[in-house]
Amino acid sequence: MQVKIGFAPGKVGNRGGLRATGTSSQKLEALLQELDRLVGLLPVKELIKEIGAYVEIQKRRQEEGLVSSPMALHMIFKGNPGTGKSTVARLLGRIFKEMGILSQGHLVEVERADLVGEYIGHTAHKTREQMRKALGGILFIDEAYSLARGGERDFGREAIDVLVKGMEDHRDNLILILAGYKEEMEYFLETNPGLRSRFPIHLEFPDYSVPELISIAELMFQDRQYYLTVEARLELERILRREAIFGHRYNGNARLVRNIVEKAMRKQALRLLQKTHLTREELMTITKEDLVGVLGNYRNLDWLETLDKPHLKERFQICYNNAS
Ligand SMILES: Nc1ncnc2c1ncn2[C@@H]1O[C@H](COP(=O)(O)OP(=O)(O)O)[C@@H](O)[C@H]1O
Ligand SMILES: [Mg+2]
Repeated sequence: MQVKIGFAPGKVGNRGGLRATGTSSQKLEALLQELDRLVGLLPVKELIKEIGAYVEIQKRRQEEGLVSSPMALHMIFKGNPGTGKSTVARLLGRIFKEMGILSQGHLVEVERADLVGEYIGHTAHKTREQMRKALGGILFIDEAYSLARGGERDFGREAIDVLVKGMEDHRDNLILILAGYKEEMEYFLETNPGLRSRFPIHLEFPDYSVPELISIAELMFQDRQYYLTVEARLELERILRREAIFGHRYNGNARLVRNIVEKAMRKQALRLLQKTHLTREELMTITKEDLVGVLGNYRNLDWLETLDKPHLKERFQICYNNAS
């Protein structure tokens, strides 16, 4: 998106030019705090600071009668599932709305099937329809490289062409974000050089470390008005470390944490139902018991810890030390 910064005395973001209404609103402050609360993600936080500052300064420049330069805000998000890409995109939309960069700030999240049709002309129609829905906000395309699969004859190509044209037509009222695994995104941009130059902002979403995952879990419990006992926290750490070492490459992320948190809340509920009298304290407390076996049979690695195999023990130790 090309953003032209200016003043909007009335409502923000009528078509035909985006205007900044100032960056001091309470809503914006609250949203920036929400962003700040997210664990890690420093490059994202930096970027928002930069854009906020830019908007402010362009406004001041305009007051002095200086030229204000448009800014393209289309983005590429690279990272494994559960690393916060959708969460950040949703928040960016709301922040950009408050900054006066977008008129609506909503997020339309789509994937290949939402864009690609089954016969000639169908794809263009479907893709345009999604773009129309996203006007004033963000169109977020997950696993964007899947549009390029299937070669020249595939309708995915048509979707890409329509998107590129749409980016131009709606340059002042739509931000496009292409997201997906790092390697696949890089290959996609490599093989579609025309696309790369249209996306000036690239953000990487690295896998979270175990301490970051624990902080994310604590944040999630806190939001739901639960808290962990000291022993429960240790148990969570043990679970996450083992996941980081032996789990599937893409499991060790925030989505797994959310599943653990929700499962622990259900286990706590079962435990509490056994009791006749419940205190407020008990209703809020997650104990070690609520976390033990929280991943179920799905990943039972207890046997590993009793195993007397020096090479495995060694590997376990090395990984264990590296995991934080
Ligand atoms: N840095 C973070 N801090 C707190 N919660 C996070 C963070 N990153 C992700 N989450 C949470 O993890 C879950 C999965 O994140 P999501 O944005 O859907 O990942 P992705 O889109 O990369 O697959 C969401 O519930 C989200 O709120
Ligand atoms: Mg997502």
